Amino acid sequence: ERTPEEAQFDDLIAADSRIEPRDWMPDAYRKTLIRQISQHAHSEIIGMQPESNWITRAPSLKRKAILMAKVQDEAGHGLYLYSAAQTLGITRDEMMAQLIEGRARYSSIFNYPTPTWADMGAIGWLVDGAAICNQVPLCRASYGPYGRAMVRICKEESFHQRQGFEILLELMQGTDEQRQMAQDAVNRWYWPALQMFGPPDDQSPNSAQSMAWNIKRFSNDELRQRFVGMLVPQAEVMGVTLPDPALKWNDETGRYDMSEIDWTEFEEVLAGRGPANAERIRRRREAHEEGAWVREAAAEYARKQAERQLA
Ligand code: ACO
Repeated sequence: ERTPEEAQFDDLIAADSRIEPRDWMPDAYRKTLIRQISQHAHSEIIGMQPESNWITRAPSLKRKAILMAKVQDEAGHGLYLYSAAQTLGITRDEMMAQLIEGRARYSSIFNYPTPTWADMGAIGWLVDGAAICNQVPLCRASYGPYGRAMVRICKEESFHQRQGFEILLELMQGTDEQRQMAQDAVNRWYWPALQMFGPPDDQSPNSAQSMAWNIKRFSNDELRQRFVGMLVPQAEVMGVTLPDPALKWNDETGRYDMSEIDWTEFEEVLAGRGPANAERIRRRREAHEEGAWVREAAAEYARKQAERQLA
């Protein structure tokens, strides 16, 4: 026998309607949303690091202004998503503690270094491209605050993807050395970008339940296929080669054939042993500690304002 609250929740999901913070929800639904939204928020915040590495070295004033705006957008996305997670009953402090103590997950993709300017192009084109593919369906996620946050975030991600495409396009129209640099960045980011969509469907423990709850709308492998389908024509326009000799459209299956993804590399990165995991967490922890005085001052200011209102 379902309780009236359980029945109401089930009906809202069955009607493809939205669950709001005030509504009753099963504990497991709340938990999985806190897990996914906080991981997503952490990804945005950690994702600022690989690109901020190039702000002081951008090749022109225009590129610098664009890159700064993009990194700021990512900070905004992170804060927006932390707020969405807070509506589920977890505090910012708890989430931040989980991140800087290395207990939280964030996207595997942000554990790779950015040695050249072309990496800014490859991140925009591939990483933000993958983010859009994954996040456009999340605009319809059943949890209201998450879905609404995604609408705005996706608009900004589209701009990020376009600016990355344009950086690579310009490099590909440059000297041999510039073309080589662009191709090298694409070679390094392609496979990690495919891994952003998560493990294969038959090894994705959360997918079935998240799809039943209308949080996820497509499986990890479906979105990965969509993403490759988006890349192929764009790579042709730019003249870059996607680094998979087996990549080929298959008329019979209606899918792209591709080489096996190196899931050992993915597991290593998730276990904290990727090329930049330690550095990313160390820098996040330092920034948190260096910002302590700002948080204290803001709290003290808020306390004084509240006191004044009482008086
Ligand atoms: N990097 C790190 N961890 C990952 C990744 C990845 N690329 N892919 C999957 N995982 C983790 C999952 O978080 C889960 O871990 P947990 O159970 O300890 O929480 C585990 O691997 C198993 O994966 P799934 O069962 O497939 O997990 P899920 O159903 O949550 O799907 C996905 C993973 C697709 C990433 C989903 O959580 C999602 O869509 N998240 C929102 C988007 C997002 O976080 N994007 C961040 C990068 S984009 C950007 O910020 C620019």
